[in-house]
Amino acid sequence: MSLAETKAAPSKETRKRPLVVMQSVSKVFSSGTIALSGMSLTVESGEFISLLGPSGCGKSTALRIIAGLGDISAGKIDWPSSRINSKGLPEGDIGFVFQEPTLMPWKTVFGNVYLPLKLRGVSKADARERIMEVLATVGLEDFADAFPRELSGGMKMRVSIARALVTKPKLLLMDEPFAALDEITRQKLNDDVLRLWKATGITVIFVTHSVFESAYLSNRIVVMKARPGRVHADFPLTTSLERDSHYRTSEEYRQACETASRSLIEAMGGAEDH
Ligand SMILES: Nc1ncnc2c1ncn2[C@@H]1O[C@H](COP(=O)(O)OP(=O)(O)O)[C@@H](O)[C@H]1O
Ligand SMILES: [Mg+2]
Repeated sequence: MSLAETKAAPSKETRKRPLVVMQSVSKVFSSGTIALSGMSLTVESGEFISLLGPSGCGKSTALRIIAGLGDISAGKIDWPSSRINSKGLPEGDIGFVFQEPTLMPWKTVFGNVYLPLKLRGVSKADARERIMEVLATVGLEDFADAFPRELSGGMKMRVSIARALVTKPKLLLMDEPFAALDEITRQKLNDDVLRLWKATGITVIFVTHSVFESAYLSNRIVVMKARPGRVHADFPLTTSLERDSHYRTSEEYRQACETASRSLIEAMGGAEDH
């Protein structure tokens, strides 16, 4: 082999290993419900994946399993590019945002965002800079001393996102985070999440049952099918356009919505009125 050929061989950098691999994962609850059956999914670092599917198809179950919340009945989860702790999870590498902001009402915004660092034994003084930094990234730097009851639904969700990001995770899991918000707030938060994703290079798996949301946000859509939950379709969503208000009215976005919608209808058994 010549020197030139040696140099041309792919380096470790270019042969990046996936962040997480679900291999034929099944989940049967003690009730007998088969929530997932043979679900396989390979997530590359830096992707923004939407898990799109009808209610009850196992989206939350899949997300919880990736987060290590609850065991699996068959198959396996691998983290090829991470150091693994004794529980089989990448140490401190996952942030989770639920549909409800799940804030502690007796704690301030600062106190709520501090929690994950507190659990890691970081003192409040040492955590302050990071907390204020992450609050600024979600536009809440002026609300550190406010209590959850003083905030709008969208602001509470921003606190929840800040709390998930405060430990600088590699992977952000979001389970229908904006489903309960009004449309305008939801669009604003979609833009915030996209901005965060671009600025941090974080990998996002975003669960939604909204075709429009998935088509706006993701660079890959994974459509799930129910009973039992599994992957129905998996397609990339590339665009040269900035994802902003112009994108929302573009032909590319319309086509992305149509593709996602058709796939979702197929996954639901073909009936449009499900
Ligand atoms: N803790 C549980 N015990 C029993 N069944 C459950 C539990 N959680 C979810 N399921 C069932 O598993 C299936 C998938 O649920 P879920 O993952 O919540 O779906 P999705 O998030 O797509 O709406 C559903 O049939 C649901 O009723
Ligand atoms: Mg769910």
